[in-house]
Amino acid sequence: MEYNFLVEKSKIALKKARPTYSNFYVGAALLAENGDIILGCNIETASYGLTICAERCAIFKAISEGYTKFKAIAIASSSDDFCPPCGACREVIMDLCGNIDVVLSNSKNEIKIFKMNELLPFNFGSDFFKK
Ligand code: THU
Repeated sequence: MEYNFLVEKSKIALKKARPTYSNFYVGAALLAENGDIILGCNIETASYGLTICAERCAIFKAISEGYTKFKAIAIASSSDDFCPPCGACREVIMDLCGNIDVVLSNSKNEIKIFKMNELLPFNFGSDFFKK
């Protein structure tokens, strides 16, 4: 799967970030099953723990707009390196988006693609409630 278009969107998304305290900009571009792309960025608040990561921003935006199925999420940051999703975002991506592709890029425009179950094996999920 060619994800260059999604990577470009994640780099656009990070420009809207509000990393007031860390100065670390993150952008996420979430690809819905119908081809729509929903953007997210990290937003920090003076109460640091209330910060929202770019990935969860995009996912909650998408679900609140009625999207239910997803194919991939691209993540980019202001650092030169790849920006893998934090542990909290891994839980949320797996739970709400499923085993989608996670597309990381660095400042040289190199791309790494993972399946969510590589980044979060043996996850907690809704199946546990059915037993
Ligand atoms: N951040 C994200 O947006 N996504 C991640 O997966 C890792 C961390 C944000 C949170 C905070 O605003 C800043 O990066 C520094 O941790």
